[in-house]
Amino acid sequence: MISAGEKLPEATFKTMTPEGAKDLTTSDIFSGKRVVLFGVPGAFTPGCSNTHLPGYLENHEAILAKGVDAIAVVAVNDHYVMGAWAKATGGEGKILFLADGSGDFAKATGLDGDMSQFGMGLRLKRFSMIVDDGKVTVLNVEPKPGVVESAAAKILEQL
Ligand code: BEZ
Repeated sequence: MISAGEKLPEATFKTMTPEGAKDLTTSDIFSGKRVVLFGVPGAFTPGCSNTHLPGYLENHEAILAKGVDAIAVVAVNDHYVMGAWAKATGGEGKILFLADGSGDFAKATGLDGDMSQFGMGLRLKRFSMIVDDGKVTVLNVEPKPGVVESAAAKILEQL
């Protein structure tokens, strides 16, 4: 698994924009910027939709005020689902919704988790990280179900 001090691997995400689907590479998103990235097992799942993402929306301004250029969320879901999640949660325009549809980023970072027991196959573990110019400087991975280590309130303290 990737750890603090390492560079994020090159990966390409799909994201939904008002003009339609767009590819964004890790360089596009992270080069020269300070970004808070959090990962979730899936859009619209109860823990992600009711707790994890709302925490980042509530703390959106406070996180940006700490010198963060962007907040992004990633899941192993397709970009149509991520786009719908952005609209449904009011996160559109505030948080960058990144689709790692084939799980390439999940596998390259080692943050992938087998959620077959839930009928969900390969997904991302629940995590948060601070990425400075493409390098992970802080990484929090949830050790068990729940939103504690990767919650917005914790990353706010770590910024
Ligand atoms: C959740 O509620 O966030 C969740 C449900 C099943 C598997 C993983 C996450």
